[in-house]
Amino acid sequence: MSAPQWLRAFDLHRPPFSKELGDDELWVPSSRERVVDAIVEACQERGHVLLTGEPGVGKTCVLRAVRRRLPDAGFRLTYCHNATLGRRDFYRQLCLALGLSPKATAAAVFCGITQHVRELSTERVHPAFLLDEAHLLQQQVLDHLHILANYDWDSAALLSLVLVGLPELDQRLRLSRNRSLWSRIHTRVHLGDANPEDTAEYLHQRLVGAGRSKGNDIFDSDALALLHEATDGRLRNIDRAATDALKAAARRKLKRIDRAIIQRILREDDLD
Ligand SMILES: Nc1ncnc2c1ncn2[C@@H]1O[C@H](COP(=O)(O)OP(=O)(O)OP(=O)(O)O)[C@@H](O)[C@H]1O
Ligand SMILES: [Mg+2]
Repeated sequence: MSAPQWLRAFDLHRPPFSKELGDDELWVPSSRERVVDAIVEACQERGHVLLTGEPGVGKTCVLRAVRRRLPDAGFRLTYCHNATLGRRDFYRQLCLALGLSPKATAAAVFCGITQHVRELSTERVHPAFLLDEAHLLQQQVLDHLHILANYDWDSAALLSLVLVGLPELDQRLRLSRNRSLWSRIHTRVHLGDANPEDTAEYLHQRLVGAGRSKGNDIFDSDALALLHEATDGRLRNIDRAATDALKAAARRKLKRIDRAIIQRILREDDLD
């Protein structure tokens, strides 16, 4: 099956802004490398982490970059993305993700997980539970998380919790009700929106990754500036707008994207 016309028009062998990209293809400029470093270091020091950022800014991709950096031998990363569950179902989900058979009662599920964490520690493997979309966690789960991380009278750091979510997660954790958990999270990082140079670099890398020999010869500079402004430098918004722009240009048999094309696709989209 041949590639769609808009891809052929720009010498691309796959959609350049798809979410299907390998961990080794992630765009990690120095600003993001610092965020990845902070999370990697926290896991190496067996601490807990909070990572916040606006929707589509690239938080889950940062987790993937962390996965790539932490050696398989010493770490066991468990990714949980359904944060809307009640406490028992939350722990059952964690059980399944850890490959344990879920038990009937909440207490038995909790015991199964803590037992597993202890076993990993004797094998010198440090587990990290990555709780994505954590702004959606039910209060009953948040209330309990610091208990999950308590081993040997709270003197052994056998587990890292990495909470990832929208900026309101930070505000929520600062509430007095959550202070037991909040005070235990020493690494608190915010992933900011891309700046204009980042946006240009991101577009370049993704276009080259999809087969173009040069990624900076499609968008005019004022088109780029408008694209950046309209998307707030949030990568998922950039993915959508840049894809629409490529398709619109290909329909008109244009090889370059100017400001007028971006304005047109913004009018058709609710980004404007
Ligand atoms: N480092 C990256 N390298 C390449 N593409 C990225 C990177 N970060 C984000 N993206 C692109 O942006 C999209 C959104 O990123 P991601 O899913 O990580 O955002 P998020 O902050 O987790 O969003 P949400 O809050 O909605 O879960 C990805 O599907 C991908 O196309
Ligand atoms: Mg995400």
